[in-house]
Amino acid sequence: MLSDQDHIEGLFPEAAINWDLDRLYADLQTVSGKEIKAVEKACLRGLLCRYRPGQLAFKLAWTSGALRVELNKGLYRSLEAIANQPTNTLRWEKVPEWLENKGYKVQRQNLHSPQVNSNANASSPADSKPNSVDWGEAPNIHAFYGRTDEVAKLEQWIVGDRCHLLAVCGMGGIGKTAMVVKLAENIHTKFDYFIWRSLRGAQPTAQLLADLLQFLGFSQTGCGISDLLEILRQKRCLIVLDDFEATLQDGELVGAYRQGCEGYAEFLQRIGFERHQSSLILIGREQPKEISMNQGEDQLIRHYKVNGLQRQGAFELLRARGFTGSENGLEALVQQYRGNPSALRIVAGTIQELFNGNVSEFLKQTALALGDVLRTLLYQQFERLSKLEKDVLYWLAIKHRPVSLSTLRSQMNLQTSGSELIDALESLRWRSLIEKLTEQGEVMFLLEPVVLKYVNRKFVEEVSKEVVAIATQQDLKSVNLLRSHTLVEDLAPDSIRAVQIRLILKPIKDKLAKAIAQNNIELDVLREKLANTQPTQVLEETTYIESNLALIGVWW
Ligand SMILES: Nc1ncnc2c1ncn2[C@@H]1O[C@H](COP(=O)(O)OP(=O)(O)O)[C@@H](O)[C@H]1O
Ligand SMILES: [Mg+2]
Repeated sequence: MLSDQDHIEGLFPEAAINWDLDRLYADLQTVSGKEIKAVEKACLRGLLCRYRPGQLAFKLAWTSGALRVELNKGLYRSLEAIANQPTNTLRWEKVPEWLENKGYKVQRQNLHSPQVNSNANASSPADSKPNSVDWGEAPNIHAFYGRTDEVAKLEQWIVGDRCHLLAVCGMGGIGKTAMVVKLAENIHTKFDYFIWRSLRGAQPTAQLLADLLQFLGFSQTGCGISDLLEILRQKRCLIVLDDFEATLQDGELVGAYRQGCEGYAEFLQRIGFERHQSSLILIGREQPKEISMNQGEDQLIRHYKVNGLQRQGAFELLRARGFTGSENGLEALVQQYRGNPSALRIVAGTIQELFNGNVSEFLKQTALALGDVLRTLLYQQFERLSKLEKDVLYWLAIKHRPVSLSTLRSQMNLQTSGSELIDALESLRWRSLIEKLTEQGEVMFLLEPVVLKYVNRKFVEEVSKEVVAIATQQDLKSVNLLRSHTLVEDLAPDSIRAVQIRLILKPIKDKLAKAIAQNNIELDVLREKLANTQPTQVLEETTYIESNLALIGVWW
């Protein structure tokens, strides 16, 4: 009945991110006086990742009943013992809380910390402080072409002119984040503290402030903007806030902040105008009005608009993607896509694949504007993918961060072999839809930023269709992605969950609410009907549907 040992040992590896598993296994062994079986370890990891016992059984290919018996006679009793709880009181959903109270939860290490002072010079004040650098969600940029003069100019603004506030703006995919990563790599050692944060989860101002102050070693209670400014006066700090547009409201005039984010106006103003020795770099699609109203090259508040790559950089990028540089039409290609690195990368794959590398032929057949190009190219690329490839892209979009092969495998609940998954990943990479990087010795995959936006939208569209069909047809026949993909991850870091809720769950719930209102559906009646018309195994045997429906609000 059991699947092979490797499969079991590879289940729920993400538990290791937050939990001291070795100590936990050792302590369990001590209290039980027996070796902990691989299946028990897997169940423990699963419970810590908030999987339900039914889901664990499914993943392990056990029946729910057999697994319950197995756990009741061993693991559950040992867990009660190390949590100092009375026998037979264990409820599986309490396990993470019990073990957290007993100190088995660990702080997640910063993925980028090995880069601390990677190019420090001897006089850098940061040298002696290993904790003074935090790259947060900044991506690793391996290949970076062109923009030498631009990076040098920004370096002069920040280091030479001691600019307080710099907004780096431009369209999505144009290369803002990559450029600021390069800039920060060059200059971060000149600061006492360097911290990078992405605001794509639209963190409220108070949350960001608390995060910054904690990093800067501010231990007193109360964490206002004044406390931050006090530190910015005493120490030279470089703060980068990426994806700043997430703090602004959608569909509003430029500059209105989301609820909870209104404090950013004062935050920017005070950092811009007050006396201190630090710098804040904002990256975003739009320029916040606190900057547009006050910026200037003779001011400490500045704005830099990022455009596409110049000819040289664009050619280098294309050469790296298989062109020799002598192809007819390469120049026109760069111009048509305004040197947009994302567009060039994607288009390069299409030209190689569909037009045998013939650029002129490609240009003859497609004469689209840049915005349309990205959308059309992505649409064409996406529609031609296999189901497995699409499923992988959806997963990577949900995760919103680099994912390892083993995590993908365990979460995808694949019927296919591991090698098929590897083939799919290779194929996606070859089409420039995903990127591969190595983090702490492990190979990870993530979506290209423009692709991420597209796939996220597509996922929301498809899932919304399923949800609306459930509401209007009052059954679960049309369920597909709801079964195979989670909408929000229980165990993701808060910032990622915030993104998943905002970009995935909320739009789906909005569409459902509309359908419910239009069709005069009563939610309680719908729930009743779903519970009655569906045999309960439909929910039990599947992985994500139950929790997804509960999140959306049509299940208890
Ligand atoms: N100068 C560059 N050379 C090579 N690749 C680049 C360059 N700038 C950006 N890219 C790549 O293009 C994609 C989009 O860049 P990114 O910096 O994420 O854009 P933005 O932040 O403006 O949305 C990324 O895959 C990035 O690695
Ligand atoms: Mg970016």
